[in-house]
Amino acid sequence: MTKHSSGSRIPGFYNLNLEERLVEIARRGDLSACDIAILKGDTSLTLDQADHMIENVVGLFSLPLGIALNFVVNSREVLVPMAVEEPSVVAGASFMAKLVRAGGGFIADSTAPEMIAQIQVLDVPDLDSACKKVLEGKDRLLSESAQVDPLLIKLGGGPRDLEVRIIQDSPIGPFLVLHLIYDVRDAMGANAINTAAERIAPTIEELTGGRTLLRILSNLADRRLARARCTIPLSKLAFGDYSGAEVRDGIIAAWAFAISDPYRAATHNKGIMNGVDAVVIATGNDWRAIEAGAHAYAARNGTYTSLSSWGCDESGNLIGSLEMPMAVGIVGGATKVHPTAGVALKLMGVETASQLGEIIVSVGLAQNLAALRALTTEGIQRGHMNLHARQVAIAAGAEGDIIERLAEQLAAENSVRVDRAEEILKEWRNNGTGD
Ligand code: MEV
Repeated sequence: MTKHSSGSRIPGFYNLNLEERLVEIARRGDLSACDIAILKGDTSLTLDQADHMIENVVGLFSLPLGIALNFVVNSREVLVPMAVEEPSVVAGASFMAKLVRAGGGFIADSTAPEMIAQIQVLDVPDLDSACKKVLEGKDRLLSESAQVDPLLIKLGGGPRDLEVRIIQDSPIGPFLVLHLIYDVRDAMGANAINTAAERIAPTIEELTGGRTLLRILSNLADRRLARARCTIPLSKLAFGDYSGAEVRDGIIAAWAFAISDPYRAATHNKGIMNGVDAVVIATGNDWRAIEAGAHAYAARNGTYTSLSSWGCDESGNLIGSLEMPMAVGIVGGATKVHPTAGVALKLMGVETASQLGEIIVSVGLAQNLAALRALTTEGIQRGHMNLHARQVAIAAGAEGDIIERLAEQLAAENSVRVDRAEEILKEWRNNGTGD
């Protein structure tokens, strides 16, 4: 495991300037000067690299990269890189991780990194006998599928199982679907599993007498789950005029809303994905895959609902948990090509994809807690607006120290709007205080 100089708790980090923050992160994450240059964007993804990643490249697109503090996941301190454009997300995760660490930190685990590839078989003369033949030929199909990636087999991955389903009711009538279950170890696994599905398609046609059409992974990766749970001591929930019990009960009532109503569940889960996606993006992983998997999983019982659960233990402490599909990798694809993703993984000191998934789901749970705590107490806008004001100040043309000063002024006036920001800037410039 990567050795880190110290923990994820850095009091006053927010008040350090950018250079000081980088020094602190470098020290704690054992990052080199080269890593720091990458984080700063000086030597990150080049146009030339980008040109080889996708088509018709004309430029690069940047996002802010922040560090969530205070995370302890399975007793390990971890500094979490988050790539996100939305204010309050990094601060929210960090603050909640601080409350959770008082209750022992996040406890997380995951299932084996098994992905599912689907093979659609049409024009099957006899569906029941085709199912039987496929199951009889399972060993042959699995060993054929193992041939596509000898390295993965050497690393302990490879085919695990084959399942057959008949889709009875569809607009084109009944057809057969095969699920190839494949352990992809530390890869996201799309390439390995799609190749394996394509490889066995001719044998499936031979066995079933049908015609294979789609051969592609399922993003409902419900065999590759990551789970996190946490306990927040009641005393840590109290703040301002709110008692711990009031905050706890508010959070549980908010969760009950999400459990019972898809309109609320969508927003509740969006809050979770604020944290999840930010780490997925920072590590160069496919956030569309994670999003698709999350929402399909949230609707797995037929009604879209909350991905997380909140309740209280026998001592009255708040307890929360989150479980979701987690198809992320730490080898291959953009995780290796994108220099910032490499530094992000190094900073977290993760050695397996499962470990990364466990951190991600912990951040999702922290983010959910941050949103529910704010929504059920002082409301989301207060903290949000103060941070949003900075973006508005920048949009109005403020630079350097003026950004903070202008943001404060906008928040104080309760008019966080670009037109008002421009007006104030103009006034300050005219009277010589705006530079
Ligand atoms: C905003 O990005 C996320 C929230 O809407 C989540 C929630 O409502 O739970 C605050």
